[in-house]
Parts: sequence; C-alpha cells; structure tokens
Amino acid sequence: MTGEFIYRFEPAKEAGAPPLLLLHGTGGDENDLLELGAMVSPGSALLSPRGRVLENGMPRFFRRSSEGVFDEDDVRRRAFELADFVEETRRRHGIDRPIALGYSNGANIAAAVMLLRPGTLAGAALLRAMAPLSDPPHPDLSGVPVLITSGKADPIVPASNSASLAAMLREVGADVSHQLLPAGHQLSRADLVLVRDWLKRADAREPAEER
Ligand code: MLT
Repeated sequence: MTGEFIYRFEPAKEAGAPPLLLLHGTGGDENDLLELGAMVSPGSALLSPRGRVLENGMPRFFRRSSEGVFDEDDVRRRAFELADFVEETRRRHGIDRPIALGYSNGANIAAAVMLLRPGTLAGAALLRAMAPLSDPPHPDLSGVPVLITSGKADPIVPASNSASLAAMLREVGADVSHQLLPAGHQLSRADLVLVRDWLKRADAREPAEER
C-alpha cells in the first residue's frame, strides 16, 4: 500500500517534537507544504504524501463531481487508504502518531481520516477546510486538538460549511479552535502564526491516548 503513495519524509531534528502529516491542496504535491511545516514546527519529522487522485492532471486526495461536491464513497475509501499509509510509514520511519497539517483538499481528507479512522492522527490543523461527509460517523475524539482556520472572503468554502465541520468535530469531543481570518482561500501569514502557536499549545498537553 505504502508503495502506491509518492511521499517525502524529513526526519525529526528535535527529539519529542510532534511529527507532522502534510496534506496539500488540489494541484499540489508532496513538496508543497514542507516549508510551511518546517516553519511552524522546526524540530518535527515531516511526512508528506501526494494525493493519488488526478483531476485534469491535478493531484487530489479524493474525487469530487464539482467544486465543493464530493464523491463521498471515494472520500471514505481514500481516507482508509491514507490512514493505512500513515500506519505503515510510522512503522517504517519509527515516528509517533502525527498531527495533520492540511490545506484545502488536504484539510478535508484529514478531517475524514479523523472521523473514519480515529486514532490515526494525534490532532489536526485544517486550513480552509470543509465538512467532508454529509452523514459522518460518531467516533470518540475526546480531547483531540483541532485548529480550523477559515477565510471570511473564501469563495470556495461557505462560512456555514466550515462552521458545520467545527460543530461536527466538537460534538464528538474534539477540542476545536475555529478561527475566522480576513482572507480568501489562499493562506496568509496569520495562518502560519496561528498554526505555530496552536502547535506549541497542542504539544504541551498530555498526548491523547492511542485508540
Ligand atoms: C476540495 O476538497 O475539493 C476543496 O474543498 C476545494 C479544493 O480542493 O479546491
């Protein structure tokens, strides 16, 4: 399974720093978020796969029929596939459960992994995320730290959608911080600062028990 994902792995530079699972947006690849990951948590191991779905040549993590309309069967299938990849590469590289740092499509698959395979991720920073499933399961995500950053002027993610993702994750116990930024779909410096500060707080807490 792991052989089917193209990925980059950068080993930790500091013992105890939380590994980050970097998940790019539509049209990105495994190189896209390495710099951001190193900026928000300089000591962390970085695990960065390329999405295996191609939409007009653009890598993604799951299929959609149009912008914002997701193929939910594919979301489920791909979330399990990504969770398997994380487990296999953790063993291969000897790293702890990662915190996901996902942008756009990468944030959406990270949310799906949390909901469908709880225990894969120690937490998630979801940048410009949407709710990936209309009828999500109800796993126990008690105390799992989640940061959602949304752009007030995002033309792709309606405010009601990111709010429902935050509500969905809170309902199952996740410790959600949802930040609305004066931004569009693109990331801004404010995202970087928020993720960096949130990671410091998330890392200072007791690790959530492995499930
Ligand atoms: C998606 O997963 O399709 C995102 O919300 C939007 C995008 O990736 O362009």
